[in-house]
Amino acid sequence: EPFPVPDLSSCKTPPTDLPNGATLDNGGTCCPPFTSGTSPVDFEFPSSLPMRTRQAAHLVDDKFKAKYDAALTAMKGLDEDDPRRFSQQASVHCAWCNGAYLVGSDSMDYQVHQSWLFLPFHRWYLYFYERILGHLIGDETFALPFWNWDTEVGMSIPPIYTDTSLAMYDTNRDACHQPPVIINLTDPTSCDNGSVKSNYANIYTHVVSGATTASLFHGADYRYGSGEVPDNSRSGQLELSPHNLVHVWVGSSSNTNRENMGTLYSSGRDPLFYSHHANVDRMWSIWNDKLGRSNYKDTDLTNSKFVFYDEKKQLVQVNAGDCYDMSKLRYQYQEVDTPWLSGGR
Ligand code: C2O
Repeated sequence: EPFPVPDLSSCKTPPTDLPNGATLDNGGTCCPPFTSGTSPVDFEFPSSLPMRTRQAAHLVDDKFKAKYDAALTAMKGLDEDDPRRFSQQASVHCAWCNGAYLVGSDSMDYQVHQSWLFLPFHRWYLYFYERILGHLIGDETFALPFWNWDTEVGMSIPPIYTDTSLAMYDTNRDACHQPPVIINLTDPTSCDNGSVKSNYANIYTHVVSGATTASLFHGADYRYGSGEVPDNSRSGQLELSPHNLVHVWVGSSSNTNRENMGTLYSSGRDPLFYSHHANVDRMWSIWNDKLGRSNYKDTDLTNSKFVFYDEKKQLVQVNAGDCYDMSKLRYQYQEVDTPWLSGGR
């Protein structure tokens, strides 16, 4: 069966699956603000919106940087109980990742990692987050930049994220992984600089050679009512690496769980999360469009429901499978080189 919309009034505080030493924002909960009696409306495709182009974060100009900073500053400054507020958006990740939604008679954890739910959930999450940012600065063309970690010049934390005067900055990142140090997918907790070649080889394996089927790439099935418990054996190749490893590499080694980016409940607190995920999402589009590989069609996945607040604070329900076509969501990725597609040779 597909997962139904979770009942927000039974969202668990604290969530059932927090790591030791976790501290939650928003008064100790990661549940979104909710007025009882509210039911979600169905998502409508934004067919009249202009196409938004997500650019590589290391290539954006000063004008974009100022715009992004203004949007994020506005988002951080919204009222505490506004579901669009940055801290609330960050909590969305915790709610869906740390066991706040237990659904059905067997109380299955509606967990959006470690299975085929991973890519569609995160595409939808970014979609709403991006639309809120655009709305706050009155710019429908606003698009999140992607962290282009799959090319040599993009392998360090992008400059717009390390400028301490901007809203994109976060202090909770590993001190020895600051630019010009590049991502180390071989050993993400070490201070050693990564190798461009091995990073390319890693990406090639997890997106191309080792990800020939939907189940290898997206992850295995996870069905409502099956009573299953999520674990890494279901994760898709892209999720396992580079996705997980980049998270760990960014998170701060001086925090118990490598907060913010290094653990699920807190990773949405670092603005870099959304650019990291934009690149994960871009990898999906390359796998699907460029490599011509096919997404899952199983309706237990495509009809599974997620719920988000939109830019107007409306609660909206979406079908996992309705995000497959990015052009219907009115966004695309800037074309850049993909040196790893050849295996890094
Ligand atoms: Cu929901 Cu990068 O994880």
